[in-house]
Amino acid sequence: MGKKKVIRISVLVSGNGSNLQALIDAIEDGSIENAKIVQVISSNASAYAIERAQEHDIPVNIITKHDYADIRDRMDAILEALNNESTDLVVLAGYLSILPKKVIDAYEERIINVHPALLPKHGGKECYGLKVHEKVIAAGETESGATVHYVDEGIDTGRIIIQGIVPVKSSDTPELLQARVLKKEHQILPEAVRMVMREKGW
Ligand code: GAR
Repeated sequence: MGKKKVIRISVLVSGNGSNLQALIDAIEDGSIENAKIVQVISSNASAYAIERAQEHDIPVNIITKHDYADIRDRMDAILEALNNESTDLVVLAGYLSILPKKVIDAYEERIINVHPALLPKHGGKECYGLKVHEKVIAAGETESGATVHYVDEGIDTGRIIIQGIVPVKSSDTPELLQARVLKKEHQILPEAVRMVMREKGW
């Protein structure tokens, strides 16, 4: 039998990049096999995720609203970066911009996103970062968690791949809940990548 093809992953980030780190670690320790992060695309020129990528010799493309004010130029730049690296799978790991339709269409069922709540609850336009956890606490939820899902044209609406649950404690602040959920994200994101690879026969 021939050698398995190495799956080429582009990771899109905007901030700290702890989910990127979870993927880097899972590939390096062999818990994700036959995959390589071929680039990191950042929507933010000062994201700490950029340093994490550079530390592991992963090429970085910075594509910001500032440099590409016109959405069509930004879209073309993202598509070009993904295509240039012959990307098989796109992972949105704390990517806080909305991907244009042209990119979603070009990579249909090959883009996944990690969201810090149990979708379909607490998703949508205003639900990102700390705001999600504020809403979860305000809604009086006793459970929250993380979701990895395929990206479609809606915001946080695509088919769910995996979820991980954490308790919401009565003493929680949004920051405490965020930290608990983030740990769960780091577990389920590598698992989701493995599941997608299996599902696609990669
Ligand atoms: C993560 O909690 C991720 O789920 C969230 O941003 C954080 C990024 O952390 N994403 C969203 O809210 C998208 N709707 P990281 O940069 O350390 O991976």
